[in-house]
Amino acid sequence: MNYQWYPGHMTKAKRMMQENICLIDLVIELVDARIPLSSRNPDIDELGKNKSRLILLNKSDLADAGANQAWIAYFQRQGFYVLEINAKTGQGLKAIQGMVKEACKDKIERDRKRGIKNRPVRAIVVGIPNVGKSTFINSFAGKACAKTGNKPGVTKGKQWIRLNKELELLDTPGILWPKFESQEVGRKLAYIGSMNDEILQMTELAMDLTAYLLEHYRGELLERYQMEDCGEKLTPVMVLEHVCENRKCYKKGQEPDYEKAAALVVDDFRSGRIGRITLEMPESARLD
Ligand code: G4P
Repeated sequence: MNYQWYPGHMTKAKRMMQENICLIDLVIELVDARIPLSSRNPDIDELGKNKSRLILLNKSDLADAGANQAWIAYFQRQGFYVLEINAKTGQGLKAIQGMVKEACKDKIERDRKRGIKNRPVRAIVVGIPNVGKSTFINSFAGKACAKTGNKPGVTKGKQWIRLNKELELLDTPGILWPKFESQEVGRKLAYIGSMNDEILQMTELAMDLTAYLLEHYRGELLERYQMEDCGEKLTPVMVLEHVCENRKCYKKGQEPDYEKAAALVVDDFRSGRIGRITLEMPESARLD
């Protein structure tokens, strides 16, 4: 299968970020905790250089807890501030304010020396489509937030969300497009649902995913589908056959409906029903 990306508005999105970056003190980058590297676009490092940087491992509830810790250590070693969050439930969001202060301490100190008091840190939220940017902005800003409206020096129509007297967020997140450095990256983006499913061959995708799960999350996979472990000879095809039986995926005439079973496995994975699963690890750490 050849993974492709059809970025309709890629240039527009990049231009929007280039225009805005000069107004920003802090770049808050959301990545998917299940694929923290494959869900990044390295262009952000160039675009956000000289800015304070905070990486949020979002959807951490769907990722392996141990792997989340390994990724936090990895990004910290690269010099980023980093936190794991669940934008949907709001878990982990409380720690952000303190970390923003820490990440922007040089700017705050510079302002203080120049006699500028109470100038809030201005931040932009960036990330690839579907990583949770809107969910994050909504939960983080909450109901109490107020749009501060246009300000001098800000392009007309741009809105800032004032979270408190120390922090303002640009209300439009910056969309980055995933970078396909390899088919491997494309495949992982497809697993998590960041590509249009219509162009994907579900059965092939599910087989590849199942092969990975058999290797790294065997217990969780077999438990989900109430399957006996028959040792090494257990193949992805056998798992799909079992899912057809277990979930009654049949076409007319009792013929197994592999396509349906495949969609079911992929959907179970995406929604966390198989378990908390991480699809890539930093080089320094390995899955059991
Ligand atoms: P975007 O702006 O970056 O494109 O992403 P958006 O906020 O629209 O979120 C994409 C999907 O990811 C949404 O699901 C959202 O609920 C889900 N999501 C965001 N953050 C988290 C998280 O931390 N954990 C989990 N488990 N899910 C998260 P959806 O299927 O489009 O909508 P819904 O079914 O949640 O209503």
